[in-house]
Amino acid sequence: MRRNSFVNTSPKFAMSAPWQRFGILLGTIGFIVVCFRVATKSSEDGDKSKHGDPDISYSSMISVPIEEVMAGDPIVLAQDDPRVTQYIWNHGYIVAPSEIDYNLTAPNKNPSMGQGQMIRKIFKDMKGGFFIESGALDGETRSNTLFLEKELGWKGLLIEADPKNYGMVLEKRRKAWSSNTCLATKPYPHKVVFRQQFNVGKIKDDSSKSMGNKTASGYAVVQCFPVYSLLSALSVSTIDYFSLDVEGVEMEVLANIPFDKVFIKTLSVEFNHVSAGKAGLRKVMEDKGYVVVGEVSHPQGLANDFIFVHHSLHELIAASKEQ
Ligand SMILES: *[C@@H]1O[C@H](CO)[C@@H](O)[C@H](O)[C@H]1NC(C)=O
Ligand SMILES: *[C@@H]1O[C@H](CO)[C@@H](O)[C@H](O)[C@H]1NC(C)=O
Repeated sequence: MRRNSFVNTSPKFAMSAPWQRFGILLGTIGFIVVCFRVATKSSEDGDKSKHGDPDISYSSMISVPIEEVMAGDPIVLAQDDPRVTQYIWNHGYIVAPSEIDYNLTAPNKNPSMGQGQMIRKIFKDMKGGFFIESGALDGETRSNTLFLEKELGWKGLLIEADPKNYGMVLEKRRKAWSSNTCLATKPYPHKVVFRQQFNVGKIKDDSSKSMGNKTASGYAVVQCFPVYSLLSALSVSTIDYFSLDVEGVEMEVLANIPFDKVFIKTLSVEFNHVSAGKAGLRKVMEDKGYVVVGEVSHPQGLANDFIFVHHSLHELIAASKEQ
């Protein structure tokens, strides 16, 4: 994996009659021209090579379709590169909130297993916050954010990687933005093979190339974006609540969030499948400035989450302790 400098050369055509469709096509495909910086050892320059500082020269230029760049190999773009956010919008990776009535199975029941209730308590039923929920599952079953949205008018972003589940999210007609993507486990867009299994669906392999067969039943190749790319696309930099339950890659997702650029006030993070274990997760978040204000668990194991609050938010921390 290399990070390079890029030049966007998407051609701009005057959109007059015969060129219009061609221009749109090129604009949609999008190419990125990359200057490869190749280290070449100059034979004459013994001095420099002695110091381990070989000459650098531009050796070639290639153009790469934007789709390949989004697959994350071999060229990558920064999380907030405008071409990433543009790609997100152009390819429908963010869908607008529904404007018609909810289509819920149990409209009066708060389906959260305790995380959503605790967040309400911490924010003292604050109205109009912003959440992210990943994975969103079907948008209702055990949703940690449905009641924040429905009862308190919070806006948010629902992220669900499994295309089957995502179809159900759309049917619920949530009043949040939604995205049929996975959260990146790397600091740039990439693709993964995703095992489809309703509530325990997960990333099977973090390189889509390993799956020779993209149509194998029960598996889907899914585009992942860093949280920060999706937030940049929405121009959101403050998140009141981030519900993170991605069946084992929580640590990798968290590691790639630029916490200096987005302010996340509270999080619930499932610790059960985390590779570094419960203590490891806690340590990592404490190092990022968060305190654990609670743990939510469920007798049948349907919730095993830490509730984190940023250490600077004294009122929220105090509210979490009230009886
Ligand atoms: C409402 O949701 C159910 C699933 O819970 C679905 O079968 C139905 O098609 C949805 N109705 C509409 C109009 O989308
Ligand atoms: C892909 O899937 C088809 C049908 O499921 C199967 O016949 C074929 O062998 C698979 N190819 C690879 C490379 O796995």
